[in-house]
Amino acid sequence: MTAKQNARALLCALLFVGELSLAGSLSSQGMRGTIRKESFGKTASGARIDLYTLSNKKGMQVAITNFGATVVALKVPDRAGKAADVVLGFDTLEGYENGTAYFGATVGRYGNRIGGGQFSIDGKTYTLPKNNGNNTLHGGIVGFNKKVWKAIAGKDSESLEMSYLSVDGEEGFPGNLSVKVAFTLAADRNELKIDYTASTDKDTVLNLTNHSYFNLAGEGNGDILDHVLMLHAKQFTPVDKTLIPTGELRDVAGTPLDFTTATSIGKRISENYEQLVFGKGYDHNWVLARAESEKGLTLAAEAYDPKSGRKLEVLTTEPGVQFYSGNFLDGSAKGKGNKAYGQRAAFCLETQHFPDSPNHPNFPGTLLKPNSVFHSQTVFRFSAK
Ligand code: BGC
Repeated sequence: MTAKQNARALLCALLFVGELSLAGSLSSQGMRGTIRKESFGKTASGARIDLYTLSNKKGMQVAITNFGATVVALKVPDRAGKAADVVLGFDTLEGYENGTAYFGATVGRYGNRIGGGQFSIDGKTYTLPKNNGNNTLHGGIVGFNKKVWKAIAGKDSESLEMSYLSVDGEEGFPGNLSVKVAFTLAADRNELKIDYTASTDKDTVLNLTNHSYFNLAGEGNGDILDHVLMLHAKQFTPVDKTLIPTGELRDVAGTPLDFTTATSIGKRISENYEQLVFGKGYDHNWVLARAESEKGLTLAAEAYDPKSGRKLEVLTTEPGVQFYSGNFLDGSAKGKGNKAYGQRAAFCLETQHFPDSPNHPNFPGTLLKPNSVFHSQTVFRFSAK
């Protein structure tokens, strides 16, 4: 080969390598999702709020606002590939500011109820504001769902992190609690992952969860009584008539709370079983079946809508799940497109520690101490068949 031919061969080789790496970077870019940021308006007190929409290449979209670190919309395809928004919510920020149902919100400091609005740590009693009869529900009067969170979009275009500092004494809870909630929409799977991280400077209690209301046929599209549910739990925590756990762990076998085999939500919901009477339907915490030694994610629940073919699987590192069948929805909340969400228009699967754990030493502990970091993870996985 002449020097000229050599140079040409080298140039060709370089061009070829260049094309390869360009093709490589294009296809990996093609695999990645996108995050769009837009204004979601201003709160009544003037704070600017944003809405972040994460999209992947499998037809799934999740919109999240930093008001309450709230999932506003979640679009997933049905068996024909047609996407619908499967969570209840509002079109405007005002809806979330005035709402009382916790649509899509991050719930804290303490998800679900604390009996009598009080608990003790090391003999010191903490008194919380009561916002649910004699009890404290979902963190008190102004829970995390009504707070303005700070959002940072991840560099990978797949995740969005929200952070919030809950100051010592907020809603009666001790310690400055620093909380992060990271939402990740997988690029190549229809899966929303939520990671919760928290640390404190004083002993405190916490129970963080997401309060999305699902209707797999699409929000506002009738009730969820025909959805078929499985809960991977052999026990639940029975409650008194104010929905505070009695402390008992009761076997689901032989009760209408047995969802160890796939059963429609509506099949037994009106049975005259005291627990269903107390809850006006399902509003209970199931004890997830997990081997003592088992760490990491476990499959907690599976819900399927036979009409659309959409299926939701919920995986979590938490020990419990609150299955709430939307019993208290009464049509007074006008949701997206001004639709009235009536009773049982949706269901919630709130992964969590058990309600009122600080007052039940036999339940898995919810105490967080300084110098340790709390972390939990929940995955909402969608498919269609
Ligand atoms: C509770 C229900 C409550 C709903 C909305 C659920 O987590 O268990 O009793 O009505 O949240 O606040």
